[in-house]
Amino acid sequence: CGIVGYVGPQSALDVVTAGLKRLEYRGYDSAGVAVQADGGLATAKKAGKLVNLEKELADRPLPAGTTGIGHTRWATHGGPTDANAHPHIDNAGRVAVVHNGIIENFAALREELAERGHELHSETDTEVVAHLLAEEFSGCADLAEAMRLVCRRLEGAFTLVAVHADEPDVVVGARRNSPLVVGVGEGEAFLASDVAAFIAHTRDAIELGQDQVVELRRDAVTVTDFAGAAADVREYHVDWDASAAEKGGYDYFMLKEIAEQPKAVADTLLGRIDGAGSLTLDEVRIPASVLREVDKVVIVACGTAFHAGLIAKYAIEHWTRIPCEVELASEFRYRDPILDPQTLVIAISQSGETMDTLMALRHAREQGARVLAICNTNGSTIPRESDAVLYTHAGPEVAVASTKAFLTQLVACYLVALYLGQVRGTKWADEIRAVVRDLSSVSGAVDRVLETMEPVRELARSLAAKNTVLFLGRHVGYPVALEGALKLKELAYMHAEGFAAGELKHGPIALIEDDLPVVVVVPSPRGRSVLHDKIVSNIQEIRARGARTIVIAEEGDEAVVPYADHLIRVPVTPTLLQPLVATVPLQVFACELATARGNEVDQPRNLAKSVTVE
Ligand code: G6P
Repeated sequence: CGIVGYVGPQSALDVVTAGLKRLEYRGYDSAGVAVQADGGLATAKKAGKLVNLEKELADRPLPAGTTGIGHTRWATHGGPTDANAHPHIDNAGRVAVVHNGIIENFAALREELAERGHELHSETDTEVVAHLLAEEFSGCADLAEAMRLVCRRLEGAFTLVAVHADEPDVVVGARRNSPLVVGVGEGEAFLASDVAAFIAHTRDAIELGQDQVVELRRDAVTVTDFAGAAADVREYHVDWDASAAEKGGYDYFMLKEIAEQPKAVADTLLGRIDGAGSLTLDEVRIPASVLREVDKVVIVACGTAFHAGLIAKYAIEHWTRIPCEVELASEFRYRDPILDPQTLVIAISQSGETMDTLMALRHAREQGARVLAICNTNGSTIPRESDAVLYTHAGPEVAVASTKAFLTQLVACYLVALYLGQVRGTKWADEIRAVVRDLSSVSGAVDRVLETMEPVRELARSLAAKNTVLFLGRHVGYPVALEGALKLKELAYMHAEGFAAGELKHGPIALIEDDLPVVVVVPSPRGRSVLHDKIVSNIQEIRARGARTIVIAEEGDEAVVPYADHLIRVPVTPTLLQPLVATVPLQVFACELATARGNEVDQPRNLAKSVTVE
């Protein structure tokens, strides 16, 4: 969920709703605001996207106020209805609270409150907090103190932001696990789940740590722990360009972000490869002596980042000969994985806030493993809690379906793999140097792919009425197939599945029927030609059974021509790096299909970009 709080001279409603717009990527099931006005609180909330709330506010304007909070929700407890939308208020309507996360002991607290005569109206875990805050406030008349007292009773993960009618010009926030940052302006202060909500006003930020409470006044920001002791905080300056978060002439953020990929790839390589073709990753603050001792790499991630991890496994094992496992972060810690100080865990996350990934890395560190984060968001929780971080330089990614972040995650994974190889002096040293050179030219190759996408868009439009699309690949083309299928599910809401092409004959081939579109990612005929020949056979097998074959193949690969109903060319690229070019047409394909089907490209139904619950 996205949270915003404001205190200062401006209209709180304007600042908060503009902030929420920037945070809609965190959820858009419902939205709401509360402002201090006329000695009381005025609230408005609405199911559905922010526009519904904006309409509501236009029809029934709230009285003006300069202190307020807002929320955009991704539903956990209770469906996306007006009643379940945040803010939640107590029975007297004096306190309003918004929340991100899950309060695990809410049922017990709710029962307790009901026994004391409170009436609860929603199905959410958040509402109990409003009632508890009201009770505690009546004893101390200090919202920050009330918040500390309440937080000590809550279990689970939560970020809370509240205002009280009886404490004007004060916003209070609390943080356990889910992110919360403070923006410090001139005579005004902001609170938000992400700096994007306030960079239009200030770039001076304070990051709240675990189990901290913050009190915001126009001229003062006070941070304590849950017991009330002053807390250490990290102040930093946000260097993201605000315009990078705007659509810049594109219809959708996703289109803009697809187009930004060559730059994102180049930026992620910048300063990390020297003229002689070796890597300088000084930021990876794990000593080379430790990296030399690593005997196992475990990659944990979710969604698209997981697919980047699957590809990284091929590179890491091939270049370093260190065994590498890749696991969905949500599964990882619950199966009691084998970890020790010689294990290097790589946590990949665009947002740096994905709760499943965060929990996996905490578990890994508890077992003594070293954790390296690959992350796109400076100062977010996952890098902060890792031993080291390699940042991807994709810039802000707003569309829910990840594109440029994925490509930069791949680049970062290759860099880590090559760096591991470099510090360990593997027998692949020459190959490593050659790959480093190839990586430097890959941004241009991505650019060339983007220039040839019109036929892919045409093809996508022609398939808008289909129900199913299958994706096949071998070797690194297999995770690419998975990613192509994920994009289509996320955006076009179609049944889409990715398979290892060799597995086809063991089951999935039964799905093939007349005119079923099957996208096949074909590896380069050079180098690993065995793979190439095998996949050409697979294409023939499915075509013989009626499939409509959509073949992604390297320029100059003539062997596929007779069997491709549609041929999508990508530049010649070394096998291990091919995902950097082969994924791009699949992103364009999914985006165009979604548009043709009338779907919301940037905000697909039911999804959120940053999922901060487990
Ligand atoms: C969500 C998003 C996905 C993303 C995944 C992991 O589910 O909808 O697009 O791949 O989270 O996000 P992360 O920020 O950890 O990379």
